Amino acid sequence: MARWGLAAVAVGIVAGATLPGAITGIAAAWDANRTSLPWLFERAFGYLAYMAMTGSVVYGLLLSTGFLDALAHRPISFALHQDLAAIGAGLAGVHGFLLGLDHSVPFTIAAILVPGQSPHAPVAVALGQLSLYLSLAVIASFYLRRRLGQRAWRTLHYVTFLAFTFATAHGILAGSDTGSPWAAWLYTGAAAVVTFLLVIRLGLSIGTRFASPAPMAPPERGTSRAGPQPRPRPSSAPAAEETA
Ligand code: HEM
Repeated sequence: MARWGLAAVAVGIVAGATLPGAITGIAAAWDANRTSLPWLFERAFGYLAYMAMTGSVVYGLLLSTGFLDALAHRPISFALHQDLAAIGAGLAGVHGFLLGLDHSVPFTIAAILVPGQSPHAPVAVALGQLSLYLSLAVIASFYLRRRLGQRAWRTLHYVTFLAFTFATAHGILAGSDTGSPWAAWLYTGAAAVVTFLLVIRLGLSIGTRFASPAPMAPPERGTSRAGPQPRPRPSSAPAAEETA
């Protein structure tokens, strides 16, 4: 008990000595950058949204190629994939909303929401808006999966790749940081990883489709023609070929 009391006194002394200076410093920095703060945050949220979206796409591809199955349970991986997509869309929403607070370029609500209405780089910004709308459609489809049916859901899910391509082009063409080496590395790295996994995914599905059927050996006496049955899969978890 005495130890906790001493710790509390120590924390009180440190906080009392440093907090007033820290608050004055933060207030001064806030005052000096008041006009550019929304712009700084808007860009930061743009990058966070892009990273979350890339994470979700990469996660989906790792799921559909089956690479993740050795490491994690499929329902958990699927939930994380879905959550990352929703987090990305939420961050992109904040990114768009903050444009309205940045008075250096006058963005009306229509300019933020309607593709082609932006006063700055209308085509590049339209790609971001379309990317967000496509992502929202894909996220909604997670919840409407039963109603849509497996085939329609999967077809709609492929739209994710279009949304990712639009987001990448949008960031590169609309962003002020594109010239920075770290931004170039981010876009190149994200595009390279997604393309690499997509090629593997396509290769696997083409391989499965065109794999020559195993030669039919006559069944041994007393064995079933059906052969070994596949292991049952938990109902909440989609099969590898059903994801991304
Ligand atoms: C309503 C939808 C959206 C609007 C109106 C919008 C608008 C903008 C604008 C005006 C810029 C240029 C800001 C600047 O650097 O001066 C920008 C940059 C950017 N946006 Fe968006 N965007 C939207 C959706 C998205 C989405 C869905 C993503 C990613 C998932 C995204 C990621 C980015 C990134 C990474 C940048 C680059 C920031 C920089 O280089 O400074 N945006 N966006």
